[in-house]
Amino acid sequence: MLIKKINELREYIQPYKSDKETVGLVPTMGALHNGHLSLIKAAKEKCDRVVVSVFVNPIQFGPNEDYNKYPRTLDADYELCTKNGVDVVFSPSPAEMYGEGFILSNDNLTYVCPPFNYTDKLCGKSRIGHFDGVCTVVNKLFNIVQPDFAFFGEKDAQQLIIIKKMVKDLNIPIEIIGCPIVREESGLALSSRNKYLSDKGKKDALVLSKILQNIKQCYLKGITDIDALKETAFSLLNDNVELEYLEIYNSETLEQEEKANNNSRAFIACRVEGVRLIDNIKLGD
Ligand code: PAF
Repeated sequence: MLIKKINELREYIQPYKSDKETVGLVPTMGALHNGHLSLIKAAKEKCDRVVVSVFVNPIQFGPNEDYNKYPRTLDADYELCTKNGVDVVFSPSPAEMYGEGFILSNDNLTYVCPPFNYTDKLCGKSRIGHFDGVCTVVNKLFNIVQPDFAFFGEKDAQQLIIIKKMVKDLNIPIEIIGCPIVREESGLALSSRNKYLSDKGKKDALVLSKILQNIKQCYLKGITDIDALKETAFSLLNDNVELEYLEIYNSETLEQEEKANNNSRAFIACRVEGVRLIDNIKLGD
């Protein structure tokens, strides 16, 4: 079923909640691919009812980012969800979520702002306000759907860490489930933004996963010096790939540690053909 209105979604979900059925929410911005499908499968396995939200959230995009260009494929997304046993696709308009006229003025909205220590690095450094927008919409979706479980991909590892922190800090009674990155056979992490890449761009983009694999191999061979691990990337970079960041931080707190350890994660962001791509890998097995 496709639902576009908040009150209709609430009406639909209420009987399931009263019957004590478990509800799983998979929040997405649509343009669904096999990465999302793995979240849907995990939700289906764990929950009696599965809601997938499809909402390109305007407040998590900066003024020079791809909000208008972001792929919108609701018909295909809905079909994929139906085929895979999703009970409800919730796809509200920006006006439904933020009120009429919101697009003209966004300075009168209550935001949920995660702590600076979590957002002053990695994607948060170049995407100012991005995680405020993410936490705000995720909170709204949590309040609308009131799921028992919510499923997020590890590809957006900083987002997942920040959402877990928000849920803990705000005592939100929802269990957050992180699901492993899904990759093409080539190693490229699946992303809705891969659609913007040419075939050549997709080949160039393999540098991200190669750099991460290389760092992991070096760590497993015993290198724990963080600068030494990061330096292994430079021989793999080329002119077609513009590195935005490569960092190694604690997997749960995003803190900089003195030495890499089994709980460290390497994070990378690059631009390929002008498309911003991210990837990450846990160093320990
Ligand atoms: O990861 C995403 O697609 C989005 O950031 C999310 C969590 C759906 C919030 O808009």
